[in-house]
Amino acid sequence: MQRTPNWSLQQLPDMDMGQFRQWQALLEERTGVCVSDQRKTFLQTSLCARMREQQMDDYQTYYDYVTQGPLGAIEWSALIERLTVRETSFMRHRASFDCVARYLHERLSQPGRQTPLQLWSVGCASGEEAYSLAIVVEQALIDTGSSKRDYGIWATDISLQALEQGRAAHYPTGRLGGLTQAERNTWLTDTPDGRHAVLPSLRERVCFSRMNILELAQAPLRDLDIIFCQNLLIYFRRWRRRDLLNLLAKRLAPGGMLVVGLGEIVDWNNPLLERVPDDRVQAYVRRDSSESLE
Ligand SMILES: C[S@@+](CC[C@H](N)C(=O)[O-])C[C@H]1O[C@@H](n2cnc3c(N)ncnc32)[C@H](O)[C@@H]1O
Repeated sequence: MQRTPNWSLQQLPDMDMGQFRQWQALLEERTGVCVSDQRKTFLQTSLCARMREQQMDDYQTYYDYVTQGPLGAIEWSALIERLTVRETSFMRHRASFDCVARYLHERLSQPGRQTPLQLWSVGCASGEEAYSLAIVVEQALIDTGSSKRDYGIWATDISLQALEQGRAAHYPTGRLGGLTQAERNTWLTDTPDGRHAVLPSLRERVCFSRMNILELAQAPLRDLDIIFCQNLLIYFRRWRRRDLLNLLAKRLAPGGMLVVGLGEIVDWNNPLLERVPDDRVQAYVRRDSSESLE
């Protein structure tokens, strides 16, 4: 490992195109995330921040370090924290959550539901999306007079730091995003440090777990009532978005709903799914008579 001279952010070593392509390919192969040429500075800045911590000043030496052996695997995990974009907020795209609310009202109003509801926030970042889903479910259970609070939410992401923040469930005001004042008052409490904590009754419903979406085939989750996947696939190539969505479709229970970000996939159809006729959202419902998984 090379010891660095004392260089600062203003003195980033310049990354040539060959080095950029090498890092770009590594990130895409391991996470699916495709860093465009316009975001070269982002990649360079993120790598430099981590290289500085490791006292390295040469991209090739660092690349060799990250791609070799068990120490490289540990280093990759730390680097991922720098390379992922984790911007999120509560009820980020309100229309999508309203769509889930309408769907749940209808499902819960039908008699004879036997199994608990299962939801999945894919690429959940620091948990605001998963807790927003929990609020929508709780409200639907109340509105439909359901006697049981039987539901669970899986929240998965590649970033361990994000998952830690999700488990802590303690957010600055800026993250409250699209929550109404009534939702804030009901489901969060103010903390002495001026932040906001999600109530334990919601936290106990959300299970955070590390999962790389590229390893979806190995994920044990299936028979989901709602799969919510927004602002993750936008970083992926179109063929990969389609492949992943086809796999997610198979993870839905019959009658289950898949919600993606509006416009995140175009010209995609899946024979298992029917698009929800609402232009404000991009949501699909799995047909009841669909073939079973695998
Ligand atoms: C911009 S955030 C979106 C958060 C939330 N879904 C929303 O819409 O507000 C994207 C998240 O995807 C995660 N991510 C990126 N690549 C991933 C991968 N290969 N597998 C799982 N999560 C990934 C990032 O760590 C980040 O937390």
